[in-house]
Formats: sequence, C-alpha cells, structure tokens
Amino acid sequence: MSFLDTKFKLLVCFLYILGILLQPSESVCSIDLRSAIMGKSPLLLHSGDNVLPDGTAFLLPRMNSVIATLHAGEEVEFLCAGASNKFNLSGDVRDVNYIQGYCVSGSNFNLGQHSYSLDKISCKEEVKSSVKDVGSCTGGSKRLQIGFSKPNNEFIKLIDICLKGSSLIPSYLNYTLVEGIDNRQMLEEVDNPDKTDYFNNLPNSMQYYYTCSNQQTIVGSILGSKAVASQKIVCSDSSNYFVKVHLAPSSDFVYQQQQRSARYLINTIPMWESIANGNWQKLENEIRLYASNISRESSDLIIYAGTLDVTTLPDNNRVQKSIYLENNKLPVPQWVWKVVYEPQAREGIVFILVNNPYHLKFARCRCVCAQTKWTLGWNRQEKNKGYIYCCTVENFRNVYSALPQFEVTGLLKKDRPYNPIPVEIEPQK
Ligand SMILES: *[C@@H]1O[C@H](CO)[C@@H](O)[C@H](O)[C@H]1NC(C)=O
Ligand SMILES: *[C@@H]1O[C@H](CO)[C@@H](O)[C@H](O)[C@H]1NC(C)=O
Ligand SMILES: *[C@@H]1O[C@H](CO)[C@@H](O)[C@H](O)[C@H]1NC(C)=O
Repeated sequence: MSFLDTKFKLLVCFLYILGILLQPSESVCSIDLRSAIMGKSPLLLHSGDNVLPDGTAFLLPRMNSVIATLHAGEEVEFLCAGASNKFNLSGDVRDVNYIQGYCVSGSNFNLGQHSYSLDKISCKEEVKSSVKDVGSCTGGSKRLQIGFSKPNNEFIKLIDICLKGSSLIPSYLNYTLVEGIDNRQMLEEVDNPDKTDYFNNLPNSMQYYYTCSNQQTIVGSILGSKAVASQKIVCSDSSNYFVKVHLAPSSDFVYQQQQRSARYLINTIPMWESIANGNWQKLENEIRLYASNISRESSDLIIYAGTLDVTTLPDNNRVQKSIYLENNKLPVPQWVWKVVYEPQAREGIVFILVNNPYHLKFARCRCVCAQTKWTLGWNRQEKNKGYIYCCTVENFRNVYSALPQFEVTGLLKKDRPYNPIPVEIEPQK
C-alpha cells in the first residue's frame, strides 16, 4: 500500500466526517416527548403516519424512541382544548384555541406569521378534556366519548364508553394502548378528583360510597344484617372492601393531558381492594410490558374492557344477594374482563377477573392461559388477589354478545414470534 493511497483514504475519510457534521441536521424538528408537552402545553396533533387505527392523531412516541421527529415543513395542529382556553404565545395571549402550524427546525414551529420555540407555545390554562354524547350502544347503553373538542364540532376521542345509564356502570369501553407506553409521562397529582358527569343525581357522595364503614351499612341492609355484612366487608385489614377502579387506567396513556382525562366517574367501577391492588394491577402491568417490548413487532394495541353481571354475597339464610353501593345503582360487577387485540396480526385474548374473593368460578368459557405465557411468574389462581381466566375472543363472544365486531384470526400469546416482513432480493442477472 503506497503512502499516497493512505493519504487519499484519509482525505476521503475526512470529507466523509465533514459531510456528517455539515448535514442539515436542523432540517427536522425533534420533540422529546418525556418533557416537552407538559403543564400548559397545547395538544400536538399530527396528520401524518402516526394516525392510530381508530383515527386519533396525537403525536406519539414509537416503541424504541421518546423523540418524535418531523420534517421541516411538516404540519402540526396545536390545540388548547377547553371552553375558555386560549393560546399564550411567548406571553402574547391570542383569542383562539386552535392553530395550524408547521415544523421549521429544531424545536421551532411556525404558527401563522411567526416562529416560536416549542416551550414558548403555551395555553392560558391546562388543556381540558370533555365528554361527548354520541348516541347508543348495543344493549341500550349510552355511548359516550372522552376526548378533546376541536373547533367546528370536531372531537379527538381518547376513550369510547358504553355506559349503562340506569345503573351507572360502564358495560364496556375501548381505547388504544400505544406501543412504547413505558415512555409515558408521569402524573404526580394523585388526588385529582374524578369528574362527575352523569353521576350528579346520586343521594350520596362518591366518598361516602367508597368508605369501608359505610359499605358495611349499605351491604348490611342488602343482606339483612350488618353483622353478616361485616364478616365479608372487613375494615380492619383494609383489603376486603370496595375501591374505585378506573377501567381505562391513567397509566395506559402517554401524556399527562391524556392521563388526566381518564379521571371521570363514567370510567370507574367498584372492585375489591385486594383484587384491584392484586391480580388486576398485575395484569395491567403485564399488558403494558408487552406493548413496550421491543422484541415484538411494532404495533399499537386496542383494549376493550368491561363488566359482566353483579356480584353476590350470602345473607343470613345463605341466599345470594346482588351487591349495589346504591339502590339498584353502582353494582359491584361479578366479572371484569379485558380484551387485548393486536390489529395488525389480528390476534386477541380475553382476560376474565373474578371480582369477589369469596367466589371462584367462571365456567362460561374454556381457559387457555396455559397456551399463552401471559400468566407465567404470578399466581392467577389466588382468589384473594382476583382469580383470572383467559379465553379466546371467539369463545368470549358466546358469553358476551355485545362485544363489538373485529376480525380475529388467532389467540394473542405473550411470546408471539416476531416475523419481520422479508425484504425482497432482486434476482442476480
Ligand atoms: C403568558 O405566558 C407568560 C410566560 O410566557 C406568563 O408570564 C403570563 O402570565 C401568561 N399570561 C396568561 C394570561 O396566562
Ligand atoms: C371502539 O370500538 C368501536 C366499535 O368497534 C370503534 O368504532 C372505535 O373506533 C373503537 N375505539 C377505539 C379507541 O379503539
Ligand atoms: C419481550 O419479549 C421476548 C420475546 O417474547 C421475551 O423473551 C421477553 O421476556 C419479553 N420482555 C418482557 C420485559 O416482557
């Protein structure tokens, strides 16, 4: 190898590195989703590739990245949702709550005449969600959507709910659980009360219904004896009583703004404390781990969750009585179920939780947990923590015919193999 040759190689190398350094790296906008869209930030809606299967268009992280990138010139919609909300651009309050802009470079976006860096694009108040009445569901439930209002009556939905208006319990709901959910923002405000839409005519407050000693009284009057009720509703160990659980949990959403929108009573059910903090929570975590698993094929999941029947407790004469926290309202569901559906593979699974530490069985479909690895490493059969069954979607439809139609070709296993689409190789001539 000659000296000149080496010199030439060095030159090529130098030009190559220079090329990288001079690359127009500023021709994209990059947004760190962990920190950028918080507090009084507007919602960022994107009309490009990131539109979810159900049409929502939040700017979201993909599985292996917390940085969202946009090309220069790419359009983004900014929305300061909320009835009296407005933009506050660098201290300049504008009388609008929706602006279409586009990426300039780095963290700069053009909104009309001027460019602003993202941290200067703010709303007057925190973005607010709302509930929209969109008619009815099969079985006569009221169909409601939690989401964000856009001008011209457009609505960005987050959770679709079918609420049994007469008893005030969701029969089922659905939402998209995005891949990479583990990159979600952390919500600090745990004491934020649930919004009460549709629950305003109850004789007592939610705090009343969800206090253990009151539950002994309420259940006591159903069973004909407070003493009998107190054998089942035990306040001293603070685990055998009913807590308010969000069927679509805040932690299944990426942005704080979305997480706060899970806080509506229409999204809640009574569940035994030991079960809520036992296998139900365990299951929620397993599903999020699966959604974020980078060895999995990239795809968002669709979750359906709902309730089935009303749980019972035996009275003095061992007659089983249905348990409600209010006269024929706020029933304690007997079973709580959750469908995890992978729309690209068209595979799904149904988990069924027995919401009663004193009952065991769900005999209406064949349990397939053993085929799936979903319940490895934890005890799904511990009744005090909530006994869990797995069913195929097909089998579950025989039990629960109101489940919306979607095409399922197989059972979703936790270790479903990742088969990337093979790259076609041109035949050699
Ligand atoms: C607008 O934002 C600035 C900070 O950029 C803040 O000082 C000001 O109080 C805000 N104005 C309103 C009306 O929210
Ligand atoms: C919920 O289910 C309904 C009916 O199948 C569907 O139209 C809607 O897009 C789903 N919503 C979500 C968020 O997946
Ligand atoms: C991710 O998936 C792979 C393949 O199925 C599995 O071996 C691994 O344990 C999973 N990781 C987590 C955190 O679930």
